[in-house]
Amino acid sequence: MLNMAMVVTTTLVIFILCSQSVAILQKKLQLPSPVTGPESLAFDRNGGGPYVGSSDGRIFKYIGPNEGFKEYAFTSPNRNKTICDGLADFSAVQAKCGRPLGLSFNHQTGDLYVADAYYGLVKVSPDGANVTQLVGPAQANSTKFADGLDVDSDTGIVYFTEASTNFQLKDFQTLITSGDNSGSLLRYDPSTNQTTVLLSNLAVPSGVAVSKDGSFVLVSEYLSNRVQRVWLKGPRANSSELFMLLAGRPDNIKRNSRGQFWISVNSYLGPPGSPRRTMLPGGIKVTENGLILQIVSLGAEYGTQPASEIQEYNETLYSGSLLASYASIFTP
Ligand SMILES: *[C@@H]1O[C@H](CO)[C@@H](O)[C@H](O)[C@H]1NC(C)=O
Ligand SMILES: *[C@@H]1O[C@H](CO)[C@@H](O)[C@H](O)[C@H]1NC(C)=O
Ligand SMILES: *[C@@H]1O[C@H](CO)[C@@H](O)[C@H](O)[C@H]1NC(C)=O
Ligand SMILES: *[C@@H]1O[C@H](CO)[C@@H](O)[C@H](O)[C@H]1NC(C)=O
Ligand SMILES: *[C@@H]1O[C@H](CO)[C@@H](O)[C@H](O)[C@H]1NC(C)=O
Ligand SMILES: *[C@@H]1O[C@H](CO)[C@@H](O)[C@H](O)[C@H]1NC(C)=O
Repeated sequence: MLNMAMVVTTTLVIFILCSQSVAILQKKLQLPSPVTGPESLAFDRNGGGPYVGSSDGRIFKYIGPNEGFKEYAFTSPNRNKTICDGLADFSAVQAKCGRPLGLSFNHQTGDLYVADAYYGLVKVSPDGANVTQLVGPAQANSTKFADGLDVDSDTGIVYFTEASTNFQLKDFQTLITSGDNSGSLLRYDPSTNQTTVLLSNLAVPSGVAVSKDGSFVLVSEYLSNRVQRVWLKGPRANSSELFMLLAGRPDNIKRNSRGQFWISVNSYLGPPGSPRRTMLPGGIKVTENGLILQIVSLGAEYGTQPASEIQEYNETLYSGSLLASYASIFTP
């Protein structure tokens, strides 16, 4: 009975507060062909960008409509341009070339922090030249598949996820049918160079975002269609709770300047197991209390590639995708 009452209340709240809409595609920001996979987007402290990672291990910066994307940095210390440039996703060679996924700037230092699927937590200096591997296979406790990332610019602390300790990105298809829950949420403190585990036994934690006041982080679990909240400060510090259950696969989470969160959620159309299931890419905007403010679907022009990220920046919606050859700009 209690559960039923809660469901009814939640449904009412959703209908009253949220507007459901199809976002209008304004522009596709095309990566240099044949590169794909701008999974996450970041903007620097001068409003430059977006910066995106790609399938061939390079990070590109969007300069403008005429110049498009220009190479900014790469994460692999021994990246061979001849072998790597133009590489497609999910290739075994990718482990040598690097695969930048989650991106976020520390706006105080100008450093770009990257969760690279194969190289772990990597820091790129403001000019893109100095690249330091901070946590990864070289360390005693390696990360096998780093994925989501966010930086608290007030403290410099970096939150990132390890999607799995059993599978790598190249085994993604196996991973998502495995029921794996070996993932974790980690915290890296640049002042001590220490990494600690905040939450473990997660079912492919794909995205992470820290709240505006730094009191909690949200972490999405792709395989269990939910978002958890981990308290960092206050009376509930060090505890976690369910933040939200979703009707689809959550991926990256990004906070906007007002402290609200965009969670990318991809739902499938068609019965489970059917070979022709299509993807319905979209996302939801929620308050710090988990109230849904807006639900958007990215619409037919976007295609049926999953949206790995939806980000609201400067009153504009951007989306990134693990598989598409472009990042997109929308009017919500
Ligand atoms: C924000 O958008 C406005 C209007 O589109 C534009 O003039 C301005 O340059 C943008 N600011 C940044 C930091 O991108
Ligand atoms: C890069 O790969 C190419 C093709 O395999 C090889 O000929 C070249 O020697 C490599 N370069 C370096 C610096 O290893
Ligand atoms: C990059 O590294 C070099 C050598 O360690 C150092 O001299 C230089 O100051 C660094 N640049 C930045 C922007 O960190
Ligand atoms: C932090 O850890 C990295 C990786 O182990 C190491 O290369 C670096 O020198 C360390 N920095 C400090 C300040 O301890
Ligand atoms: C590294 O291993 C130690 C000992 O097993 C453990 O206490 C610590 O939490 C681990 N750290 C990370 C970042 O996995
Ligand atoms: C949370 O954990 C940290 C580190 O273990 C500890 O210093 C702090 O007192 C804990 N806070 C609460 C409210 O339990």
